[in-house]
Amino acid sequence: MRKRLIAGNWKSNGSSASCAALATALAAAGKGRDAEVVVCPPFVFLPVVSQILAGTEIHLGAQNISGFGIGAFTGEVSAEMLVDVGCRYVIVGHSERRALFAESDGALVSKLARAVAAGLRPIFCVGETLAQREADEARSVVCGQLDAVLPHLEPAAAKSLVIAYEPVWAIGTGQTASAEQAQEVHGWIRARLESIFPEQGRRIPLLYGGSVTPANAPSLFACPDVDGALVGGASLKAEDFLAICQSASSA
Ligand code: PGA
Repeated sequence: MRKRLIAGNWKSNGSSASCAALATALAAAGKGRDAEVVVCPPFVFLPVVSQILAGTEIHLGAQNISGFGIGAFTGEVSAEMLVDVGCRYVIVGHSERRALFAESDGALVSKLARAVAAGLRPIFCVGETLAQREADEARSVVCGQLDAVLPHLEPAAAKSLVIAYEPVWAIGTGQTASAEQAQEVHGWIRARLESIFPEQGRRIPLLYGGSVTPANAPSLFACPDVDGALVGGASLKAEDFLAICQSASSA
């Protein structure tokens, strides 16, 4: 069975004090989780959170990564820098970055390749908009996002890859996908991964993201192809995030 994975995406929220307080609360909750737990603070707060999480079982992740190496790339944060501050994971291709910062498929290939080469585990996000779902295009959009990027990676990249299905209409809206909707799309993704990566495809963890809460997490985690969650808003409250981690451990 694939180990469950819960990742908290703190987005562009918080201060050094509030991020430290949140990390301290999570660290204090301690061991005993069967699920792998990751938090992704804003870049500038990675060092402070990294120090607090050192020696705990909670992993550190970033929300974005440069598709370039070290050098004259003003404003970019390279894979090597993320590793240097203690990151183990990085979110790549979040819908907010695709939509607001025009991240192209080509740029996402570079980011994923850099992440994998540096030893990071990328959480690659895919998902359809409401208009696309209503036009019955969810399957072609999601599979198209996988097809446009993943075949360009080395097959070995599949060993560290994580996929997050995040329907855009569910992100930050309070309108989560039903367990049936999530399972249906995860089934399509699983089949596509097995065809792109015949050896590793069935082992790649598939997270669901979009208004995950302590209340809806158990039904999502009961789905056979939902291996965990990428959590935005609810990851900013220690109590809620810990409750989601708890239901992943007991599912
Ligand atoms: P949300 O965000 O849980 O606030 O909907 C999820 C995400 O964007 O990763």
